[in-house]
Amino acid sequence: MQFGKVLFAISALAVTALGETTSSLICATLTSTTRISIASGCSLEDFTATAQSNLDELSDCEAVRGDIHIAGSLGSAAIANVKAIYGSLIVKNATSLVSLTADSLTTITEQLALSELTILDTLSFAQLTSVGSIYFVTLPALEETGFHTGVSDTESVYISDTALTNLDGIVATDVDVFNVNNNFNLDTVDSHLETVSSALEVSFNSDDVEVSFDNLLWANNITFRNVASVSLNNLTTVNASLGFIESGFQKLSFPGITRVGGSFSIVDNDDLEEIDFSNVQSIGGGLIIANNSKLTDFSEWEDLQTVGGALVLEGSFDNGSFPSLRAVRGAFSLESDGDISCDDFSDIRGDTAGEYQCSAASFSTSASAQSSSSSTSTGGSSTHTGSSTATSSSSEDAGVALAPASLFTLLASIVLGFL
Ligand SMILES: *[C@@H]1O[C@H](CO)[C@@H](O)[C@H](O)[C@H]1NC(C)=O
Ligand SMILES: *[C@@H]1O[C@H](CO)[C@@H](O)[C@H](O)[C@H]1NC(C)=O
Ligand SMILES: *[C@@H]1O[C@H](CO)[C@@H](O)[C@H](O)[C@H]1NC(C)=O
Ligand SMILES: *[C@@H]1O[C@H](CO)[C@@H](O)[C@H](O)[C@H]1NC(C)=O
Ligand SMILES: *[C@@H]1O[C@H](CO)[C@@H](O)[C@H](O)[C@H]1NC(C)=O
Ligand SMILES: *[C@@H]1O[C@H](CO)[C@@H](O)[C@H](O)[C@H]1NC(C)=O
Repeated sequence: MQFGKVLFAISALAVTALGETTSSLICATLTSTTRISIASGCSLEDFTATAQSNLDELSDCEAVRGDIHIAGSLGSAAIANVKAIYGSLIVKNATSLVSLTADSLTTITEQLALSELTILDTLSFAQLTSVGSIYFVTLPALEETGFHTGVSDTESVYISDTALTNLDGIVATDVDVFNVNNNFNLDTVDSHLETVSSALEVSFNSDDVEVSFDNLLWANNITFRNVASVSLNNLTTVNASLGFIESGFQKLSFPGITRVGGSFSIVDNDDLEEIDFSNVQSIGGGLIIANNSKLTDFSEWEDLQTVGGALVLEGSFDNGSFPSLRAVRGAFSLESDGDISCDDFSDIRGDTAGEYQCSAASFSTSASAQSSSSSTSTGGSSTHTGSSTATSSSSEDAGVALAPASLFTLLASIVLGFL
């Protein structure tokens, strides 16, 4: 056993922090390298429990200062009477551990870190409400959080590679980080969050995961990847970046959002048919809408006035416009094999600081071939009526002079189409 001598130092710090008298003293039986300040609670140093008997030594400590580590081959672990840990509870690579119980515990000031516990299937934290951070990683048998009262106060939630089906018991409203990834049974995320000051990410959980952050007012960064649906009814501001990526939703309708401070990506969503961000007025970084194979219309950007980075649109668009757009500070690039015409974006060319590129149908409504051509149309994609590409770093029309090339390309693509 790793315990050596006991130091009965009374810690003034512990006394004040724990707010109890020095008379209740305990832990005398502890034989340990563990330094123990017994006042109201016990002060620990290098405390690692590898058997329940080690944890039993804490049974007279209502509060513990220092970290509790649990490791080794114990099958169950119970921390009976400890109400507060001024430090962390770290359980790692206890590969025989099936259950962990700490039903008196209300507070962990630093981390609750459980990782590499391959058969842990029962957690019970009947009264835990306040935790510095929750870190659950590689808990492949864990289906429930065990937070029976609900953790309402935490800074950070990181949950990865567990068998959780929901996040019941995590009821905090304001956090720095909320990152839930690779939990393949997780099909519901119904969050109480109101603000996320650093990053919110939900990625690669169940393909069917329905995500709802209806109390969320603002978040610094948001990324949703591989989710089935997203609801963000109260969200108004994303301070930095926002991404909807590789997901299964058909519709993204968030008329409440008015500002995205960083980049905004809507990429690789194969079922997405409809988007509505009609009240977004500014995007601080780039806006990229690409590889959403069913998205033919990006009309609902009525209020968008400025894009701080590049504006990149790739897809089979028939319809779309940015009627209020006044400035694109990066490049503009539209690449479409739908019916949308470059003519509809000629106004934006003048407002674009960077390179302007448009490769799209151009014979739909306008008579003037307005652009040069270096079309990439080949046999595989020659169903549309024509294409043109314009590349320009100024607002001038690159123009008519290059129209013959455009015709040549059109012919070439028709020819290739029949090969
Ligand atoms: C995890 O625990 C097992 C046995 O309990 C041990 O063999 C292994 O070395 C430990 N792994 C790490 C990374 O500590
Ligand atoms: C994000 O924006 C909201 C609304 O403008 C603001 O209240 C909040 O302080 C900002 N948060 C950060 C981290 O910048
Ligand atoms: C939005 O927040 C308000 C309180 O700010 C709340 O009453 C309302 O239920 C929230 N909306 C949704 C859809 O949850
Ligand atoms: C938030 O987004 C910004 C801009 O995309 C990025 O630089 C930053 O690293 C992100 N922060 C976090 C915590 O993910
Ligand atoms: C779109 O998909 C193609 C092919 O998978 C890839 O090469 C391209 O980089 C993707 N574009 C974006 C913006 O992700
Ligand atoms: C394109 O948008 C216009 C006006 O919003 C609408 O009348 C028209 O039906 C739309 N066309 C397609 C193909 O969606």
